[in-house]
Amino acid sequence: MVEFIQPILWKDDSLYILNQLKLPETTEYNSKKTIQEVFHAIKDMELRGAPLIGITAAYGMYIGIKDASANNHRSFMELVRENAEYLRQSRPTAVNLFWAIDRMVKRAAELEDKSLDEKKYLLLEEAIEIQKEDESINRSIGENFMPLLRDGIRILTHCNAGSLATAKYGTATAPMYIAKEKGWAMKVFADETRPYLQGARLTSYELHQAEIDVTLICDNMAGFLMSQGKVDVVIVGADRVAANGDTANKIGTMSLAVLANHFKIPFYVAVPTPSIDLATPTGKEIPIEERSPLEVTSWYGKQIAPEGINVYNPAFDITPHALITAFVTEKGIVLPDYQINLQKLLVK
Ligand code: MRU
Repeated sequence: MVEFIQPILWKDDSLYILNQLKLPETTEYNSKKTIQEVFHAIKDMELRGAPLIGITAAYGMYIGIKDASANNHRSFMELVRENAEYLRQSRPTAVNLFWAIDRMVKRAAELEDKSLDEKKYLLLEEAIEIQKEDESINRSIGENFMPLLRDGIRILTHCNAGSLATAKYGTATAPMYIAKEKGWAMKVFADETRPYLQGARLTSYELHQAEIDVTLICDNMAGFLMSQGKVDVVIVGADRVAANGDTANKIGTMSLAVLANHFKIPFYVAVPTPSIDLATPTGKEIPIEERSPLEVTSWYGKQIAPEGINVYNPAFDITPHALITAFVTEKGIVLPDYQINLQKLLVK
């Protein structure tokens, strides 16, 4: 049995966040008592990964009204909407943030006839429910992958779409955990994922802890590995899938898709339906977060590039839908034509 590391905990009416900035050296949970602390934990990437950002924002929405004293529904909703607007500014790309916040606002709006205490209780319940649902969604994603994989498979993954990015199991890693349960042999290559090093610090850490055979490579080694015939499939996660299937994921994902296409290797995107955004028509409309140049020019606080050098640091890229072999969701496998089939999936 795999002992999963829990990236967030709700206990004793408090939110505890595992500080992923300190992994793998230090396992440190910090409690977040205010909505501002939750905002900064998301923005500064103390936690990260699309589903986990959504779950944390849902708890943030509860924390934001926990001590409210609003005496009528209108002023309660004003506070809820103000909090929602604030949390929406934390990170722009992963649609799960907006999905979870909208869900909490909608739930709050339904509670007009409840007392203030009941409203608070029911909003906490909704956040807990979002977290629970994510766990079962990811398990289903893993199970739905099985017909696409086999005993002995060699998988390349990018970033951390792992248990540390979700309530449990991860999305891209869910099939790895399910395959392990089945007793399958498997080899995973994890891209280190510059500049934040989600692959080196997080994916290789969580898979190694789970006793899954994982080999860490630098991002620029993937093409050579594929040319040597060492990769059977690529599996990545997603921060937002547009209506036509264009997919935002960690910077470097698109290069992998181009390589996989060249070497005729299946390129799969593991995606929970809350990451599918039919309101965004194509990848061009997905906002791409740019992060601090310091992430590129320094290494653990040590400057490695010339002082004052120009830096471009987009945190995500867009993989064109034509390079994606299939999406694997909790509701099943989605094949092209994505424009039609993603829509069909969401009304299922
Ligand atoms: O910047 P991050 O670490 O939040 O980016 C994470 C990713 O790109 C993941 O692949 C994606 O969110 C899916 S997590 C299941």
